[in-house]
Amino acid sequence: MGWVRTHRSSKAVDFIQLNDGSTIKNIQVVVDPAKFDAEMLKQINTGSCIGVKGTLVESPAQGQASEVQAEEITLFGTCAADYPMQKKGQSFEYMREHAHMRLRTNTFGAVMRIRHNMAMAIHTYFHEHGFYYFHTPLITASDCEGAGQMFQVTTKNLYDLKKGEDGKIDYSDDFFGKQTSLTVSGQLEGELGATALGAIYTFGPTFRAENSNTPRHLAEFWMIEPEVAFIDLDDLMDLEEDFIKYCVRWALDNCRDDLEFLNKMIDKGLIERLEGVLQTEFVRLDYTKGIEILQEAIQGGRKFEFPCNWGDDLASEHERYLVEEYFKKPVIMTHYPKKIKAFYMKIDEEIPTCNGVPQEQTVQGTDVLFPSIGEIIGGSVREENYDKLMGEIEGRGIPMKDMWWYLDTRRFGTCPHGGFGLGFERLILFVTGMQNIRDVIPFPRTPKTAEF
Ligand code: 4AD
Ligand code: MG
Repeated sequence: MGWVRTHRSSKAVDFIQLNDGSTIKNIQVVVDPAKFDAEMLKQINTGSCIGVKGTLVESPAQGQASEVQAEEITLFGTCAADYPMQKKGQSFEYMREHAHMRLRTNTFGAVMRIRHNMAMAIHTYFHEHGFYYFHTPLITASDCEGAGQMFQVTTKNLYDLKKGEDGKIDYSDDFFGKQTSLTVSGQLEGELGATALGAIYTFGPTFRAENSNTPRHLAEFWMIEPEVAFIDLDDLMDLEEDFIKYCVRWALDNCRDDLEFLNKMIDKGLIERLEGVLQTEFVRLDYTKGIEILQEAIQGGRKFEFPCNWGDDLASEHERYLVEEYFKKPVIMTHYPKKIKAFYMKIDEEIPTCNGVPQEQTVQGTDVLFPSIGEIIGGSVREENYDKLMGEIEGRGIPMKDMWWYLDTRRFGTCPHGGFGLGFERLILFVTGMQNIRDVIPFPRTPKTAEF
């Protein structure tokens, strides 16, 4: 049983390519038209759904190892003439507009099977390494990343909002009695898990209302966030590298047919690139050293659109220069300026000097930068010292009422710990060679699009 990809008919014989979604490979159904109702055969066209009973035989022709000689055909569903996935070679933009049907194409079938396999790889990796799958809430009252990109959750009547004397919305009669949003990260609760169970990971949907219309950003994406007690920065980087390599190897071992298809149709360098990652050691690069390399390149005549002085957040052109041109390898960048990173990162003791000039405080953050993707992982060792963490919370004006429970981890038996977040769709982009993040999730959510 499956959906018809193509139906070629002639007087003597009909060939139907049938696919049930379990593999990129169609099964060829060979039909003797004399044995079937001609009207029924005519209705079997691209997109229709049929069941076939017959004999599986070795195929005499090239192109498939076996085929089915049809004895009985059931037509489950005819396909209307305006079936949007009719033609071959339709653009990805077109398919996004018909995302409800694009799953039936070869490319999306391959991507979705790989997506499933990557989820299995992730659960297997963590299970085998003693991490517990830990479920953190999707509705939250705190902004983990502090970037203010949250979607609000409310049952209030938006046409009749009660405001306090100060003119601000009064949430006391809202469902949770306070302002709540969809989570941008499960990390804060993940830290509660790790400081009780030792090592946990989350794997769930994440929401960010950032207005970034790029091929790397979604408003709803899936994130994997391991959090581990008693690790330092080197352990954290080892974990990041080992974990990504495990996932890539899993794809090569378990998704061969789909990868070969994508390698042929989407990206001729795909399999080679995946194999290459397994053989390379990721570069571990201090942010300050990275800035020095970039400034040297600029002095040598390299042009960038954005400035890159010490203290600047690197733009993707800078990251790509380091990863794709300078090192030609994945890069784990560390020790970022404190002011461009989140409040929870462990503060370094030493003040770095860039080209001989002393700079400002840095933190033990790590971003893993990948060719053509840019940032695939963001993580850090956490500041476990109560006073230092409190200093950051106050200095950044983060409301304490949201944070008291998080700070308790530092009051009741604090410990060194750290973790990271992997953007699931960015991993799928890398593993499939697809170019746009909207094409590696079944139903993408981006600014102005929430269809399907
Ligand atoms: O670097 P981020 O913001 O880190 C955190 O959220 C930490 N709390 C993680 C942690 O330490 N537990 O996000 C982590 C990763 C990024 O590296 C990127 O791969 C992905 O999440 N990501 C997105 N993916 C798709 N669309 C977006 N809008 C994304 N924003 C982040
Ligand atoms: Mg980040």
